Amino acid sequence: MTRFLRLSLILTGLIMLFPSQGMAETPFPIIHEPEGKECVEDEDDMRRNHMNYIRHQRDKTMREGIRAESEGSYSLSKCIDCHVEANDKGVTPTHNDKEHFCVACHEYAAVQIDCFQCHADRPQKNIKRSSSDQALKDQLQEMLAAKDMGDVQ
Ligand code: HEC
Ligand code: HEC
Ligand code: HEC
Repeated sequence: MTRFLRLSLILTGLIMLFPSQGMAETPFPIIHEPEGKECVEDEDDMRRNHMNYIRHQRDKTMREGIRAESEGSYSLSKCIDCHVEANDKGVTPTHNDKEHFCVACHEYAAVQIDCFQCHADRPQKNIKRSSSDQALKDQLQEMLAAKDMGDVQ
């Protein structure tokens, strides 16, 4: 056991000494990209800045001064409609699945987002409706109202 531990410490040390090699060993998450379509901005920009594009208008205007005209193209529901598709088994991943477009990277980067507590994590057409939906909707409305009041203060 001890020897194994010491060996891993040495290995860790080596990775720290040669960071680029260490990085190359870390598997990058597989990200599914919709075929035959284009993102709202170029890929590199999106990779770096998507979080800024999709923050609430209120936040954008206040913190980053991004103007309202550019709003429409960064709608979160549009991101989901294009990026979240059914897998080979016909199942559309939810935000609790590693497969979900928004999750693979975030897990890798240890980022957590709360957006899907309120926003749909799948295209509307892939969400099965049931009779319990109305109750859920009411609950959500209550939550949103409370949140809005909290934000305004
Ligand atoms: C507590 C509920 C709640 C949470 C959590 C939440 N939102 Fe929202 N979001 C809303 C409501 C309500 C609206 C307004 C919808 C409207 O005006 O039609 C909205 C609107 C938006 C819009 C503009 C409309 C659209 O469809 O794109 C974006 C973009 C957005 N939210 C992104 C996010 C992101 C990103 C997160 C996570 C960081 C997030 N939201 C978390 C409730 C929430
Ligand atoms: C009409 C389809 C479409 C819409 C809408 C769309 N995307 Fe994309 N997105 C793509 C495609 C296709 C790519 C792959 C790169 C490319 O070809 O532009 C991509 C790439 C990305 C990447 C980089 C992925 C990687 O491999 O690094 C991120 C992050 C991203 N999109 C986030 C978003 C967000 C957030 C939104 C909503 C504001 C959004 N996308 C809206 C199609 C779309
Ligand atoms: C290519 C990888 C990748 C994809 C795909 C991706 N993200 Fe991210 N996202 C990141 C990284 C990395 C960060 C952390 C950036 C930082 O901290 O500077 C992040 C941060 C965020 C944040 C800010 C979190 C915070 O705590 O401030 C939000 C909101 C967000 N992403 C939403 C989304 C949504 C919604 C999707 C799917 C439509 C998505 N992301 C897809 C890599 C990705």
